[in-house]
Amino acid sequence: MTALLDGKVAVVTGAAGGIGLATARRFAEAGAKVVIGDIQDELGAAAASDIGASAVYRHADVTDEAEIEGLARAAVDEFGRLDVFVNNAGAQGDPAPIIDLTADGFDRTLALLTRSALLGHKVAARMFREQGSPGSIITTASAAALQGGWSTPSYTIAKHALVGLVRQAAIELGGLGIRSNAIAPGIIKTPLMARTFGVPAAESDAFVDHLENRLGASQPLGRLGTAEEIADVALFLACDLARYVTGTVIPVDGGATAVTLGTFATDVVAAAAEFTAARG
Ligand SMILES: NC(=O)c1ccc[n+]([C@@H]2O[C@H](COP(=O)([O-])OP(=O)(O)OC[C@H]3O[C@@H](n4cnc5c(N)ncnc54)[C@H](O)[C@@H]3O)[C@@H](O)[C@H]2O)c1
Repeated sequence: MTALLDGKVAVVTGAAGGIGLATARRFAEAGAKVVIGDIQDELGAAAASDIGASAVYRHADVTDEAEIEGLARAAVDEFGRLDVFVNNAGAQGDPAPIIDLTADGFDRTLALLTRSALLGHKVAARMFREQGSPGSIITTASAAALQGGWSTPSYTIAKHALVGLVRQAAIELGGLGIRSNAIAPGIIKTPLMARTFGVPAAESDAFVDHLENRLGASQPLGRLGTAEEIADVALFLACDLARYVTGTVIPVDGGATAVTLGTFATDVVAAAAEFTAARG
């Protein structure tokens, strides 16, 4: 794994914790220099100093185009170029159901989860074009990009739109040698889970352990995922091993979106047995 990103420079948004931080670490381990962007300045700066000389932290709210652009500029100013841009920052957004959702709540969620990734593509593609070199853009989507019912409507719609984004980017940017792919994580043990359900940060690890105990067995691989398991797929998409891969959405969900979760299949069997038994 050591040399996969040797000489490459990456930006990872939302990398003060969770999937973004694991990705920044993996990239640095693989030889990359990394610009960590986030709005949690203390955590972000600590993450960069923990990784060492191959990482720097920059405050960047991904709902602000100028701040996203600042991350690409920081890559060039600090490390001389840009090769990989990871649109990862995110949060739950407006949790309201369709019947109560306000236009403002919907717009804010899309600005955070969808417009940010579109602008990340724009900024990165302009930089790659300016440099005259190809590059890889990776976007953290979700199982909620592939199926309804994983999350709230605004989150589900925002993540579904990312599928359209990487497909459109594949055709528009492919001619410049730019690849765009998304990862669709299932349930991953990160601070996002606690934040989404209003559990205090100090209880985050205990909360994800509780979720794992309750829900792990319902997943095809029998457990929830880790941020490092998403980072490993991001590393693949970032490096030349994926040089002919673009426009894809890769589920990294332990098989969850490949199957019908819950009791549906056993309910059908039980209903069939009831029907047969009732007729003697
Ligand atoms: N954890 C999961 O189960 C899961 C599943 C599917 C998809 N995802 C997606 O993965 C991505 C990373 O989530 P995570 O689980 O690591 O959560 P996390 O909360 O650990 O990390 C998200 C990071 O994004 C940052 N962030 C939030 N709003 C921001 C903004 N406006 N500008 C810049 N940074 C901002 C946060 O400060 C945080 O550091 C998100 O896009 C999320 O939707 C997570």
